[in-house]
Amino acid sequence: GAVEDDPAAAEGFPEDEITIVVPFSAGGPTDTVTRLIAEPMGEELGTQIVVQNVEGAGGTIAAGQVASADPDGYTVLMHHIGMSTAPSLYADLPYDPLEDFKTVGLVTEVPMTIIARSDFEPDTLEELVTYLEENGEDVTLANAGVGAASQLCGLLLQDAIGVELTEVPYEGTGPALQDLVAGEVDLMCDQTTNTTGQIQGGGVKAYAVTTEEPVESLPDLPTTAEAGLDDLQVGVWHGLYVPAETPDAIVEELTAALQVALEDPNVIDQLAELGAAPSSQDDATPEAHTELLSDQIDLWQPIIEDAGVSAD
Ligand code: MLT
Repeated sequence: GAVEDDPAAAEGFPEDEITIVVPFSAGGPTDTVTRLIAEPMGEELGTQIVVQNVEGAGGTIAAGQVASADPDGYTVLMHHIGMSTAPSLYADLPYDPLEDFKTVGLVTEVPMTIIARSDFEPDTLEELVTYLEENGEDVTLANAGVGAASQLCGLLLQDAIGVELTEVPYEGTGPALQDLVAGEVDLMCDQTTNTTGQIQGGGVKAYAVTTEEPVESLPDLPTTAEAGLDDLQVGVWHGLYVPAETPDAIVEELTAALQVALEDPNVIDQLAELGAAPSSQDDATPEAHTELLSDQIDLWQPIIEDAGVSAD
């Protein structure tokens, strides 16, 4: 529309603080990545960026809230791969990921790790597979709800082995990891941005990373493919969104600030320590982000449908 394309729409933007909504608990992987880029983005924009955690329903509550927020650039959503799985998991999703948002750009891609409480019996991924085949529903699998990355990874794990485990949902993998460390649940598949510290410190047992390549900060961990689970590959991509009616000129300001943040040496170092890498400047654009989102919706739909999993 006319307002959306008006180059003057960004004049004076921002004149107030900006809120980035995180759809999961504070202290978890999405929160960690968001807080990392919020500071340099805010510096570039010349305003403060506040991070707000809006939990619930596997990240879909937050996305629904931002979809219907004022389209003025002051409310931004950080979301991940769950943006592409939710349409297949929720029959009555209150938003359409492609129609109800404008993409700002991709932020990072994060490997996942399969981890267990430190005294869980199996020591290797091969032993884990056998153990799960034998114990199935007696094993508890933590995740961050239907629509979370941890839930998708758990779905792929159960699918690959042909077992059904007992899923225990949390509002984020931050609190789930605490319970895993405390031995309250058995197993989880979660992003390196959350798990690296506990893996390195021995607070949890780790079996594999879910990426094609090994993760430099976790050199002892085999990839799922190396350990025989070729179908269990997933990288958790993240991106920023604004409501669909936000003027393009404002989106451009946000994209430019994101691109600066992703070249910040501190952001690059901290992400590397956590096994992740910032998106390239080409990927930190609305075009690349929309293309990936659209491809991923198409990729996961048949996999989720075949698995017969849904939120209802
Ligand atoms: C989180 O931030 O808690 C995670 O990204 C949840 C998940 O998707 O597994």
